[in-house]
Amino acid sequence: MKVLVIGSGGREHALCWKISKSPKVKKIFCAPGNAGTSGVAENVALKAEDIEGLLKFASGNSVDLTVVGPEAPLAAGIVDAFKMKGLQIFGPDRKAAQLESSKVFAKNLMRKYSIPTADYGAFGDYDEAVKYLWKFASDKKLVVKADGLAAGKGVLICNGTKEAGSALTCVMREKVFGAAGKEAIIEEYLEGEEASVQVFVDGEHYAMMVAAQDHKRVFDRDEGPNTGGMGAYAPAPVFSEEVRKKTEARILKPLISGLKKEGIEYKGVLYVGLMISGTDPYVLEYNCRFGDPETQVVLPLLKTDLIEIAEKINQKQLDKLKIEWYNNSAVSVVMASKGYPGSYEKGKIITGLSEAQKLENITVFHAGTAAVGPDTVTAGGRVLSVTGTGYGLKDAMEAAYKAVPMIKFDGAHFRKDIGGKAFKK
Ligand code: AMP
Ligand code: GLY
Repeated sequence: MKVLVIGSGGREHALCWKISKSPKVKKIFCAPGNAGTSGVAENVALKAEDIEGLLKFASGNSVDLTVVGPEAPLAAGIVDAFKMKGLQIFGPDRKAAQLESSKVFAKNLMRKYSIPTADYGAFGDYDEAVKYLWKFASDKKLVVKADGLAAGKGVLICNGTKEAGSALTCVMREKVFGAAGKEAIIEEYLEGEEASVQVFVDGEHYAMMVAAQDHKRVFDRDEGPNTGGMGAYAPAPVFSEEVRKKTEARILKPLISGLKKEGIEYKGVLYVGLMISGTDPYVLEYNCRFGDPETQVVLPLLKTDLIEIAEKINQKQLDKLKIEWYNNSAVSVVMASKGYPGSYEKGKIITGLSEAQKLENITVFHAGTAAVGPDTVTAGGRVLSVTGTGYGLKDAMEAAYKAVPMIKFDGAHFRKDIGGKAFKK
């Protein structure tokens, strides 16, 4: 069969890489892809948001299944558009994707179905939002969130109500996050350790993937500004058997049945961002897709054919498939451009890629890269995701950190402590 993968990040390279191992697949296209995806797929010069163009391409090239990486086309209804034309596509429709595209929608749903999450208020009116702050002591730690998609940036952690007031002005008045600031959430700050749990969902049945932990801050020891993610590891020990059971009983089961009651059939990958306080899980956010960089550690551990999983989900028969995992660990270290997450230059030549790739237990996933003549050059903030695997986390870390220094480009930076948190326990 022919598969089209939509997107251009490390996540999409990992998707193409995993899909290329499926015996069912003869040809992969990636739109728009990067210098890495072109090794396993044919890159197609169409943007992820160009739904019309992608639709034409899929039907014109007899694509049997389209797999969507990023959230923007899902929120814009790419799944609805493909289904209307009778084309097979893997991901939630526009209504279901609201779990990510509207934080107000997600929070209200959780309140309605008693799913544990930070207590909150949701506001479309700036004055009402400011008034809500009066009920807290002035030193109360709060989180202000813009309602819509803001590329992971619309979340402001505030030390006290004064900071929260300024955050509201930023979001709702100055519209720093654009249209996402039409509505805002003010929520309680939760203490604990974060984990990312991705779940295959077919509208009725679900299967959890191994839990991962992302590293959002740019510098070691979680210092510096937030990024799209500087690395991840899996499985995350904080997601113990006890936490898993509570997550299923308190979060997944009520969510899936709640969605059904609301007339929403969620099919695809559901990403649940959790804060684990003691052994109690609370939902920080939902994403309606695979995480980045979580995908780069979770897919190398997945034994089962991803295409088979996607097909079973689309047929609503996920319960008929036994999903298997390698009993290994994976660590992925993101190499970023100088200046990232702020402004950065592109076009720096990358060396050492083929030497690093020759190492055992290493897969180098490309993110912001481009091919220029014989060279691979940087073309984004997050450039590469270097994944090491091993029998335990320590082996996986060793593998990843042996490969990373072999790869060089001007101004490259990366965290040296990805996976370290697992050993604090
Ligand atoms: P979100 O996009 O909603 O997951 O928020 C981005 C990041 O902000 C999360 O990964 C957390 O690190 C942090 N965060 C969000 N909400 C809260 C909260 N209620 N309490 C503590 N930290 C939070
Ligand atoms: N790693 C967080 C995300 O994919 O949104």
